[in-house]
Amino acid sequence: MCGIVGYISKNKKASPILLDAIKKLEYRGYDSVGIATIDDEKIELKKDSGKINEVDKKVNLSDMRGCIGIAHVRWATHGHPNKVNSHPHTDHDNRIAIVHNGIIENHEELKKELIMEGHIFESETDSEIIAHLIEKFISKGFNFQDAMIETVKLIDGSYAIGAILVDCPNKLIAIRNESPLVVGLGNDYNFIASDIPSFLKHTKKVIFPDDNELVIVSSENVTIKDLNGNILDKKIETMAWNEEMAQKEGYDHFMLKEINEESVVVADTLSGRKEIEKIVVDLGSINKICFVACGTSYHGALTGKYLFESFLNISTDVSYSSEFKYLKDVLNENVLTIFVSQSGETADTLSAIKMAKNRSKTLAIVNVLGSSITREADHVIYTKAGPEIAVAATKTYLSQLVSIYLLAIYLSKNRNNKFYENMTSQIEKVPDYINELMLNEDKIKEIANKYKSTTLFFFLGRGFIYPTALEGALKLKEVAYIPAEGYPSGELKHGPLALIDENVAVMVLAPSENSESISTSSYKDTINNMEEVKSRGAQVIAITSYKNGENIDVNDIIQVNNQIDELLSPLVYIVPLQLLSYYISIYKGLDPDKPKNLAKCVTVK
Ligand code: AGP
Repeated sequence: MCGIVGYISKNKKASPILLDAIKKLEYRGYDSVGIATIDDEKIELKKDSGKINEVDKKVNLSDMRGCIGIAHVRWATHGHPNKVNSHPHTDHDNRIAIVHNGIIENHEELKKELIMEGHIFESETDSEIIAHLIEKFISKGFNFQDAMIETVKLIDGSYAIGAILVDCPNKLIAIRNESPLVVGLGNDYNFIASDIPSFLKHTKKVIFPDDNELVIVSSENVTIKDLNGNILDKKIETMAWNEEMAQKEGYDHFMLKEINEESVVVADTLSGRKEIEKIVVDLGSINKICFVACGTSYHGALTGKYLFESFLNISTDVSYSSEFKYLKDVLNENVLTIFVSQSGETADTLSAIKMAKNRSKTLAIVNVLGSSITREADHVIYTKAGPEIAVAATKTYLSQLVSIYLLAIYLSKNRNNKFYENMTSQIEKVPDYINELMLNEDKIKEIANKYKSTTLFFFLGRGFIYPTALEGALKLKEVAYIPAEGYPSGELKHGPLALIDENVAVMVLAPSENSESISTSSYKDTINNMEEVKSRGAQVIAITSYKNGENIDVNDIIQVNNQIDELLSPLVYIVPLQLLSYYISIYKGLDPDKPKNLAKCVTVK
């Protein structure tokens, strides 16, 4: 979605700092960009549609005067991506400028009223009304702070707003409701932003304002008030992330860098096992689990269903966050609802946790410290993936999976289940298996080059590896724009087999049946399903840990270490699938970090 930044300092020019900060948020929106500053009792405004570098080339965004400013990258919801609809938006007299992330649901009726009162609108956006409402209250005699309060009392929807006012050039004001907003604290400067990486270079000290708290920022101070004007005492947190973590560090793309970090991320997440063990103590009475998540996080959750049902005999549902509210309400105090989210800000998952809290035990598995979802949950497991910048989730998926495995392991320990003993030592080997797989990168490049023009892919998996097939297909769609479907291997013949011919590629995930904890016949059954597609002419690629793959007759094969327990295969098989999508994207001349139409953090429903 959109990204906002605000910066104020005693004597440093704001525009170069805002430009640099907004570049770190380009993963959130890239339709348009703009900056507004205040200098010499005037608002200076530069904005246009296009990627940041293109717009910067055109209008020189860093060459703006003033030590206070706001900036925006847009992911269009209301109105086309063009110059007029780009943020910041101003009032008619150019005294107020605002940036907004979210959706103002009642903008049409408010706009009608404002037009009747004489306000002239320029854009098709829902956001412009904010500037006009502030203008209206200022003209009625309210000060800046109270004009903001009156404005948010009138608007419905989700928002993170940053505003500046010419008559108040030493202050910027921000406020949020269900859209992310963080405050970065410096020495003689301060920031507000949608996300921490934007100011990580300048400060690691952050405050997380809650919904409808007014953030009043000067170069020296940050004051946070409730809507009645009472000053609130907010905790200052220090981020463990550093600036390098949010840089490409020599890689061509963030996606490739983030895939290369996966073995370390798995090891780091495993190091959090004690925190998970402590949480489990409070979960003794649960007899049902409901996972709630979107996209990649949903696939992590679905893997959890297989684990919890097989090893803990706990009935486990998995729901898309956007569908949660339509499902039969099964929540009670013995149900654990688990919300999985990289960003901790996904609007649908946030609404779902608000529905579930107080009616069930809630646990959030989230990567971003202090994010909205973590503030609603009874318990939080922080995945230790560091900042993920590429839009497509890779390393955070691995860290979610490891957290879910650890949760299953410790729940099983509490229930004296054998799964605990088997898995505790096995899971430690995963970072080595991933490192080993990374040595196959050339082979994966070769396969990517061979299949880059394929127009339809199927990803097949059975049992524990089935959610990995879904995730492999999602990655390919996202970054390589190739239609791809993930299916349970046995399901293809119930319809989709009609699509199979020599132009279709089928990726078969075939872990060998070597688990100490379960016995499945998944390998044999998967190979039979593979024969069904082969005999219809499909190009078959297999990823397998089966005895050096010698018995499989396929077009291409990626060999995985045959020691890996079948149960742990989701933690390893996803890595070549992510690399394959990355390289197909590259060979097609695309930008895998910023897939078209997508945003990293979906803060609208
Ligand atoms: C994954 O590659 C996508 N970017 C997307 O599906 C994502 O997983 C989904 O939007 C959920 O985001 P969250 O984990 O931040 O809640």
